[in-house]
Amino acid sequence: MTNVTIIGAQWGDEGKGKVVDWLASRADIVVRFQGGHNAGHTLVVGNQTYKLSLLPSGLVRGKLGIIGNGVVVDPSALLAEIERVSAQGLPVTPETLRIADNAPLILPLHAALDGAREAARGDRKIGTTGRGIGPAYEDKVARRAIRMCDLAEPNTLSAKLDELLLHHNTLLAGLGAPTFEKTALLENLLQLAPKLLPFMEPVWERLSAAKQAGKRILFEGAQAVMLDVDHGTYPFVTSSNTVSGTAAAGSGVGPGAVGRVLGIAKAYCTRVGSGPFPTELHDETGQLLGERGHEFGTVTGRKRRCGWFDAAMVRQAVKVGGIDGLALTKLDVLDGFAQLKICVGYEINGETHKHLPAGMAAQSAAKPVYEVLEGWSQSTRGARSWAELPAAAIKYVKRVEELVEAPVTLLSTSPERDDTILVQDPFAS
Ligand code: IMP
Repeated sequence: MTNVTIIGAQWGDEGKGKVVDWLASRADIVVRFQGGHNAGHTLVVGNQTYKLSLLPSGLVRGKLGIIGNGVVVDPSALLAEIERVSAQGLPVTPETLRIADNAPLILPLHAALDGAREAARGDRKIGTTGRGIGPAYEDKVARRAIRMCDLAEPNTLSAKLDELLLHHNTLLAGLGAPTFEKTALLENLLQLAPKLLPFMEPVWERLSAAKQAGKRILFEGAQAVMLDVDHGTYPFVTSSNTVSGTAAAGSGVGPGAVGRVLGIAKAYCTRVGSGPFPTELHDETGQLLGERGHEFGTVTGRKRRCGWFDAAMVRQAVKVGGIDGLALTKLDVLDGFAQLKICVGYEINGETHKHLPAGMAAQSAAKPVYEVLEGWSQSTRGARSWAELPAAAIKYVKRVEELVEAPVTLLSTSPERDDTILVQDPFAS
């Protein structure tokens, strides 16, 4: 048995929730290792619908959840989520949730700066979730972040707030946004501290013990490779590394613990926020994909941009993300199209490229080079075996495998948990 790490292979919202939930039921511990409450997914268990943002999904399956040091934690958002989920009959206690003592915190001033900067960018805005993710990671790297452990040291907290406010108030004032006052921030944090501290521990210690005891760990990624701060469509990315290697640094385990890496990709492509999207469709086909796929953001409710499957991009995600196998989701959304297109490369200023170059101008000039495949008229919705799929659908999946240079080890054909074709159990390898 090995551990499993799940990451998105496109721009997020690939339907990770269903796959994570299924694998979580087979894991002992589920760990979040990057991102924050910018992520979001909906889990349906029995007659309850849970909307999770920061909490590891395994909690709804009764598994121990860990928030690693690579996550930026908004204390108020976390406590609100704990309260909401507990009110639904699923108590979240220090027995079921542990939070890294070295995880950086998101404070109200981070969201304020996020919003003020987006407003100042105007047309060139990134389209962030507005949750303060970027500014919180900036503070971490700049060595001025307030971390979970600081909540146990009021004097440290007070001194660090001085440094933080000096920086943030200068920026906020420069952007013409309201500034923050120390007393209110400090009082609020000291008030939240007793509620949060019981969850805190050095999680690396627990993960090390779990490894020794042969427990199965599922590392649950948020966002996706094309939103990775290094490998994504920079600067239209999130502020963390979303590739599988981050599971190690973001939770305090060695790289060997990452285990088998499962990348999640939709059978087509979507994106929220701004930035390059070579296969984006502005016509009725794009509209149809959006309607059929219910493409609205879980966190912000924003309409997602839709387009054809970009195999050149997913191939790149497979390589830089260390993806061993792909879970292809929402195949049923493609039912009924006479023809389907897959992007196999790009044409940029008269030259062909096998992958998306790093430059901003080149990325926005990239025109997809398509391969056209035959569609299928039958429904694939709910299929649970290859035998239930039309030949053209199988051909589509096989072509995806060839182009992205990774096997499709799991195929999802509806939001229902059991409507899945499993080719290979990731935990079993
Ligand atoms: P931020 O993470 O809020 O800074 O947003 C940066 C970019 O990442 C924006 O384009 C967001 O729309 C996108 N983003 C952040 N989290 C998610 C997610 O969970 N799904 C899809 N896109 C996301």
